[in-house]
Amino acid sequence: MTRILLGICGGIAAYKSAELVRLLTKRGYDVRVVMTEAATQFISPLTFQALSAHPVHTQLLNTEQENAMGHINLARWADIFLVAPATANSLAKFSYGLADDLLSTLYLAVTCPVFMAPAMNQAMWYKAATQENIQRLTEHGISIIGPDQGIQACGDTGPGRMSEPEAIVQYIDKHKTPELLQGKKVLITAGPTREQLDPVRYITNRSSGKMGYALAEQAQKMGASVTLISGPVALSAPREINLVLVESAAEMYTAVMQHISAQDIMIAAAAVADYTPAHIHTEKIKKQNTQTELKLVKTKDIVASVARLDSRPFTVGFAAETQNLEQYAQDKLVRKNLDMIAANQVGQSEGGFDSEVNALQVYWQKGQQTFAMTDKTQLATQLLTLIAQRLHA
Ligand code: C5P
Repeated sequence: MTRILLGICGGIAAYKSAELVRLLTKRGYDVRVVMTEAATQFISPLTFQALSAHPVHTQLLNTEQENAMGHINLARWADIFLVAPATANSLAKFSYGLADDLLSTLYLAVTCPVFMAPAMNQAMWYKAATQENIQRLTEHGISIIGPDQGIQACGDTGPGRMSEPEAIVQYIDKHKTPELLQGKKVLITAGPTREQLDPVRYITNRSSGKMGYALAEQAQKMGASVTLISGPVALSAPREINLVLVESAAEMYTAVMQHISAQDIMIAAAAVADYTPAHIHTEKIKKQNTQTELKLVKTKDIVASVARLDSRPFTVGFAAETQNLEQYAQDKLVRKNLDMIAANQVGQSEGGFDSEVNALQVYWQKGQQTFAMTDKTQLATQLLTLIAQRLHA
């Protein structure tokens, strides 16, 4: 059962949220309601308690409510965070990360996809500040539903009416995680590469492939048909995934180019060797002098080559860095002509290579989003949700 945390702000459209809760529960969603102080002036929490069959959350610093389900647990509980109606004030708070009440604090704490259905007077909607906030929220990966045009409660006519509850439910149905990548073809590279020196030795790196495999598994759960091109790892891939095993960067390049046509999305999570031995010795290299030198040559950049194709998929790269994370990531976004880059700090005690958890800083041309330290499965869902949103945008 998909769990929706529904935030209700203080606008006259709050009365429509009663119908929204009814429709959502009828569709099989498990709904918990959070109301701002102002929302409770428009409609009683009791209405939502009756419709959702659960107590309504209204206060941040209330021991009773915290004991029942603390705000962090409430945020973790949610599969979807929906705010309807979202007032100009709350949108401004979300866009700047203020957390002075339960709803705005929950917004900062959730890691699931977020949807907002604005509702306000048309002049408030047109105000530059509101438009900037909507723009910022869109860049932060938030889906904005509506608003509709028409006659408003205040007598004005124009945009600002909250979308009808049925339209909101339809939007959520269509964009909720399990169906986000329905019918899409996704190619993912994962793991390290192995660059052979002689019959018994190779150069490799600490990549475990966990992030790439988690992405492949989650993309498939979200409806995609997945091709996973993997370097040598100690993981197994789900059966339905088209798994192509390779060793070297050159083999990975060839495999990717063989499978790239008709892909909608390419995610390069592999830690591809940047250099490979200029010469593979056919016999084991014998030790001789106290020092020796290896001549290495550059490998082909796979993700950059894909991004240069005429008919290219939505192309996402990774940047694992030990320092200057943002600068190096932004530089790679431009230099490799990517649609998006997911940067992560490596070489620290937590996260990065061979870890179960990771944190990502994601950049695209006009926006960025941070995903806090969490397990790689959850992180994969968050990143794929963002990719699907950017693809649809
Ligand atoms: O330049 P750098 O190796 O740091 O870039 C990392 C990104 O580029 C990753 O997405 C990685 O999978 C991709 N890459 C690639 N082919 C290479 C080197 C890196 O696809 N030869």
